[in-house]
Amino acid sequence: MSVTDKSFIGSIPELYDRLMVPLIFEYCARDLAARAVALAPRSVLEVAAGTGVVTRALAAGLPADTRLVATDLNQPMLDQARKQLANAPHVIFRQADAQALPFDDAQFDVVLCQFGVMFFPDRAKAYREAKRVLKPGGHYLFNVWDRIEDNEFADEVTRALAPLFPSDPPRFLPRTPYGYHDPNAIRADLDAAAFETVSIAPLATLSNAPSPNDAAMAYCQGTPLRTEIEARGGSLEEATRIAAAAIARRFGHGAVSSRIRALVVTAK
Ligand SMILES: C[S@@+](CC[C@H](N)C(=O)[O-])C[C@H]1O[C@@H](n2cnc3c(N)ncnc32)[C@H](O)[C@@H]1O
Repeated sequence: MSVTDKSFIGSIPELYDRLMVPLIFEYCARDLAARAVALAPRSVLEVAAGTGVVTRALAAGLPADTRLVATDLNQPMLDQARKQLANAPHVIFRQADAQALPFDDAQFDVVLCQFGVMFFPDRAKAYREAKRVLKPGGHYLFNVWDRIEDNEFADEVTRALAPLFPSDPPRFLPRTPYGYHDPNAIRADLDAAAFETVSIAPLATLSNAPSPNDAAMAYCQGTPLRTEIEARGGSLEEATRIAAAAIARRFGHGAVSSRIRALVVTAK
């Protein structure tokens, strides 16, 4: 993993929240939050909470006296999340690395993480941390993206940008967010952290954008792919234009839709 893969900073938090979240994160956030709410927890820890799309769904679905703590490695992501939860002062935001959680043992009924575990360099360590802070019998819920070929806008953007940087194509998307989907590897990592009951279920839907440019801008400018383009001396505007043209060729002009597919993991 490149060091910049986990850097959701600078312009990224605002663009991520405005463009990426409605494009691919909201549907899965509702699903993950509903699974947590169904467990009727009294205390919930969210790791890698980002700009708070799951946190908002949890705050809406859980009683206000539930202890709800949202953490992320990057404080700028939490600052963006706080802005949209200004009317929910009971939600606690705290900067934290999922691999070294600043909480005592056996504090939470549920630990959950939406599309974050792919960013942890040592996943078994992060899973052990989740287990440590869970109460006995607690649940760890998380989701990951399935293969990039099953997530068509991401795949198209990756293919479209490769010829722009032939000697060193940007590989952030396939390497990290779409790089951890083998159920056997996921089960082995959870096994190493001594989780006992593990289920993995697919979740598929459509991703919708008002235009090819909106979808291209989301990926090229609202994720660490932006940093990869800039590090190669590329122009963000040109990269976005090329990605938008590729999306338009495959999915049409005007409003566009493509398939997305995730895996939802429940561990006990
Ligand atoms: C794709 S975003 C997902 C954010 C949010 N859960 C959502 O659904 O929109 C990945 C998040 O992982 C966070 N992250 C990366 N490495 C992390 C780590 N070691 N510990 C905690 N969070 C981390 C990033 O800051 C980013 O907010």
